[in-house]
Amino acid sequence: MMLTVYFSGTGNTAYIAELFAAQMGGKCLSIEDEANFSAEFAAADTIAFCYPIYGSRAPLIMRQFAARHSACLQGKKVAIFVTQLTFSGDGAMIFADLFPKGHFHVIYAAHFYMPNNICNFSLLRKTGENSIRKRMRMAENKVARICRDISGGIVRLRGASGFARLLGNIQGKPWQGDSTGAEAMPGTMEAKAKAGVKIDEDCTVCGLCIAACPMKNLEMADGAITHNSNCTVCYRCVNLCPHRAITTFFHSKPQWQYKGLSQKS
Ligand SMILES: Cc1cc2nc3c(=O)[nH]c(=O)nc-3n(C[C@H](O)[C@H](O)[C@H](O)COP(=O)(O)O)c2cc1C
Ligand code: SF4
Ligand code: SF4
Repeated sequence: MMLTVYFSGTGNTAYIAELFAAQMGGKCLSIEDEANFSAEFAAADTIAFCYPIYGSRAPLIMRQFAARHSACLQGKKVAIFVTQLTFSGDGAMIFADLFPKGHFHVIYAAHFYMPNNICNFSLLRKTGENSIRKRMRMAENKVARICRDISGGIVRLRGASGFARLLGNIQGKPWQGDSTGAEAMPGTMEAKAKAGVKIDEDCTVCGLCIAACPMKNLEMADGAITHNSNCTVCYRCVNLCPHRAITTFFHSKPQWQYKGLSQKS
């Protein structure tokens, strides 16, 4: 039986995971769901893991989830799907690096090109509506091909070549260092990002970001929003704040916000 498990900050990865699960069958769960994941993993023989790429590496929240459930994955068949804006080198295969060698059998690894969700860094533009539709069409075709491949026993491992590994490391090392576990390494960009939330004077303390944060990083204290230095940099709050008052890692005020794919099919 197939099980699809994903983390998605702003909807791109959820879109891919749901497409895949709709075609392959089996449950599709977000790691944020209140589910008994140990039981779900035990019942599945093949598990598809889906996550967005951050600096060519897996999000901290996904690594923490992997560390918590490592034992349940031993001996399973695993497919890995990564969503990215442009490039991640070995972004899909790095999920396997979070586990002991040979812990499970990777039967498929693939990358999907999706819209930009970093809405406050001037070098990264908003993805236009036409480009979003094109990326969605390409993703749908790719999911259909992957499902045919998996059903036919064809193995493709995107990101497994030495060259992909090298390129992934060039981008991934400064972001995450050598950490494959549940902690950000001191001195890395990820560690800086973890403590990188800022809230400006436009905040009305509406609380939307507190409810949305997958890391429970945000709190209300003395009539203001504070953070616990536990940001996974998913960019969810930055894209949803009605006053564009919250930022993380990059601190320019967003000029636009990414609202996900649900309205665009
Ligand atoms: C902190 C951060 C780092 C990112 N790093 C990369 C990257 O290294 N390469 C890339 O192509 N896209 C990168 N992206 C873009 C996302 O991976 C991409 O938009 C993804 O589809 C978002 O998925 P989601 O909507 O499920 O969160 C990054 C996004 C964020 C928020
Ligand atoms: S969503 Fe924006 S306005 Fe509302 S509490 Fe968070 S930062 Fe403040
Ligand atoms: S503070 Fe914002 S960017 Fe950081 S994990 Fe929470 S929702 Fe995501």
